[in-house]
Amino acid sequence: MPIRYLLLLLLSGALLFSGCNGSQQSGPRSLSDILNLNSGRVERNFDPVQIQRGSDTFHTHCAGCHGENAVGTPDWRTPNPDGRFPPPPLNGTAHDWHHSTAVLKKTILKGGPPEISAMPAWEGILTEQQVDDIVVWIKSLWSDEIYAMWYHNFEDR
Ligand code: HEC
Repeated sequence: MPIRYLLLLLLSGALLFSGCNGSQQSGPRSLSDILNLNSGRVERNFDPVQIQRGSDTFHTHCAGCHGENAVGTPDWRTPNPDGRFPPPPLNGTAHDWHHSTAVLKKTILKGGPPEISAMPAWEGILTEQQVDDIVVWIKSLWSDEIYAMWYHNFEDR
């Protein structure tokens, strides 16, 4: 990701935090506070067994579109002739980390509106546990920086 874009995202995260959480803290927090750089990185205490299950389920059902290890399609930013977008990466290099866990789960279970999105619905095909496993696996792919930004952007992680 170009560094300018990253900085913009950091800044918007900072504004989001200082703007919306006024009741919880007295003043704006520094970027390094927000990214938890002073107190070390945000730990991901994921269960390795669950990560493996998520990877297996993903590679059975999702990799056909989203690619091995969720790398997406090369031109995922360019819409198809029908106006719908190709499957994006889910490894923290696209938009997946802009969503809370609840929104990620809903996207997977309900899919996108068929007129504008080619993302199928998985409700009734995958169990909620399988979807949880996939979401944990996806988060395990994100870099520490992306995970930290995601972590600090959502109260309802
Ligand atoms: C038929 C192809 C296809 C399959 C199979 C598929 N997806 Fe998708 N998925 C897409 C497309 C296309 C999009 C982008 C939708 C849009 O732009 O509205 C998408 C979007 C998503 C998003 C939202 C990403 C974002 O950045 O907001 C998530 C999360 C996701 N898919 C997860 C999954 C998971 C998990 C599976 C397997 C259970 C799966 N997908 C299977 C095509 C697919």
